[in-house]
Amino acid sequence: MTLFEAYQKGLKLLKNPEKEEINLRIILCEINGIESMTDFYLRKDENIKDFQRFIEVLQEFLNGKPLAYIFGKTTFFGDEFIITKNVLIPRLETEEVVDFAIKKINEKFLNKKVVVCDVCTGSGCIGCEIFKHAKTNRVIFSDISESAVKLASRNAQKFGVHGEFYVSNGLDFLDKNVDVVISNPPYILNKFDVDESVMKHEPHIALFVDEELTIYQNIIKKAVKLGVPLIIFEIGYDLKSKLEQIIEKIAPNYKTDFIKDLNGKFRICSLEKI
Ligand SMILES: C[S@@+](CC[C@H](N)C(=O)[O-])C[C@H]1O[C@@H](n2cnc3c(N)ncnc32)[C@H](O)[C@@H]1O
Repeated sequence: MTLFEAYQKGLKLLKNPEKEEINLRIILCEINGIESMTDFYLRKDENIKDFQRFIEVLQEFLNGKPLAYIFGKTTFFGDEFIITKNVLIPRLETEEVVDFAIKKINEKFLNKKVVVCDVCTGSGCIGCEIFKHAKTNRVIFSDISESAVKLASRNAQKFGVHGEFYVSNGLDFLDKNVDVVISNPPYILNKFDVDESVMKHEPHIALFVDEELTIYQNIIKKAVKLGVPLIIFEIGYDLKSKLEQIIEKIAPNYKTDFIKDLNGKFRICSLEKI
């Protein structure tokens, strides 16, 4: 059977072929080891390498499992990260946070090599990309989930990041000052904001935050206590006013900026020590 024949077979099984067709190409490229999706059309008459695997993968996909969990990897900021079911699949919005952080670090610290702490690290994607693109001495990765920390360490090793790794609630473990704290904590307040597939497959500990935003409070309090010069958060679109109140109370000597993403939603909160 050729790739094109398998593609046609798959197409008939998709619930929403117009929207999901791209995933069928991704699956077939992965099965045949085709690196660039643009080559799919050129190589569509090749025989499929493993039809049985194609059927299994397609079935998992039809059951709603994200491709990143099926193949154990995803692309973030142009690099391929190892992904397991224990971590959130890195999102496109987070690339914007990383891009902001890289520019901010290079501008603020000029030629100094900084120490960065990536709290709530999940797969380690934020810390790894900052290490690659900003002048970074080392990255401290931490998460409350032991399996996330193990995975972050595998990804850090893959990209040659000088890293330290801690299993911890927020910044509880940190006892020395660092130059930058960055975090994409769980930030969803309302479970009705979440797609069915995300709810079913992604770890809930990575998604939901309480009304008090305890995890944000934990990180800000400790970072302020240690005198961290730059703190950067990814935030939920609806957290701005709650965070402003918290920051006013516990970080009055920090200058705060809220930055919108490409979609026009507040996505980044940056705090700089005055
Ligand atoms: C939204 S995910 C972000 C993962 C990764 N940084 C990314 O951007 O793809 C949030 C992460 O925070 C971790 N987490 C949840 N509660 C935490 C806590 N109290 N302390 C530390 N980490 C926590 C979860 O295990 C999860 O890995």
